[in-house]
Amino acid sequence: MSSIYSGIRKRAALKQLAGVFERSEASTGRALPIRKTGRGIWAATPVRVIEEACRTLKDMGILGGGPPGHVIDAGTGDGRLPAVLAWLDPSRLVYGIESDSTLYTQAVTNLHTLDARGLIDAARVTLLEADYCDVTTYETRGIALDQTGVVFNYPDGNERQLARFVAERCEPSTMLCLLTHNRTLELDELERRAYRDVSDGTGPRWRLSLYCRGVASMVAE
Ligand SMILES: C[S@@+](CC[C@H](N)C(=O)[O-])C[C@H]1O[C@@H](n2cnc3c(N)ncnc32)[C@H](O)[C@@H]1O
Repeated sequence: MSSIYSGIRKRAALKQLAGVFERSEASTGRALPIRKTGRGIWAATPVRVIEEACRTLKDMGILGGGPPGHVIDAGTGDGRLPAVLAWLDPSRLVYGIESDSTLYTQAVTNLHTLDARGLIDAARVTLLEADYCDVTTYETRGIALDQTGVVFNYPDGNERQLARFVAERCEPSTMLCLLTHNRTLELDELERRAYRDVSDGTGPRWRLSLYCRGVASMVAE
């Protein structure tokens, strides 16, 4: 019985969390959550798709009790992925990096709101207004790239540059996770180790593809 109540409480908390991002999206006054930024394109992943993707990675042993290491959300937009991760996997450190100052400010506000409501512990999340492909972003803040377990990205045209960065600067086992509605996207810079389809149960399926350059702790396709 208690697990039923805990399930209901979790659904209610996720609804609250999603509501914060829906209101933040609505506050921009745009009909669609999409716009050009200085370095790419902002388009928002539905919160429930992110939740499903993170749960899938937990089931695959990549998040949750899986290998240690922090997570980098490369191009965090309004901070929704760090928020879902801090809610689902609170022991893991997450860095959300965004170059667009308006989105960065929005992400800071959203995470403060969630923290104030007791939905996440914002101390586990660090948001940076910076370029995720610039090594000084990490060096100047003492972020050890060789401790990076997972790099998330919603491809907006910069994914190959990011894949090269991961290949050159991170460990062979660092997993680049691309979550995109473009189900035909291919990357040559790293090897694809697995993929899964995820959806929020109502909209189209999204493709979660996992890439790395090493063979350590691999998951089968
Ligand atoms: C498609 S949006 C995804 C936003 C968010 N991750 C989500 O799923 O809702 C990609 C974001 O990456 C940002 N971006 C692109 N290149 C970047 C770079 N080199 N450094 C930091 N942010 C970047 C863009 O400004 C944009 O907000």
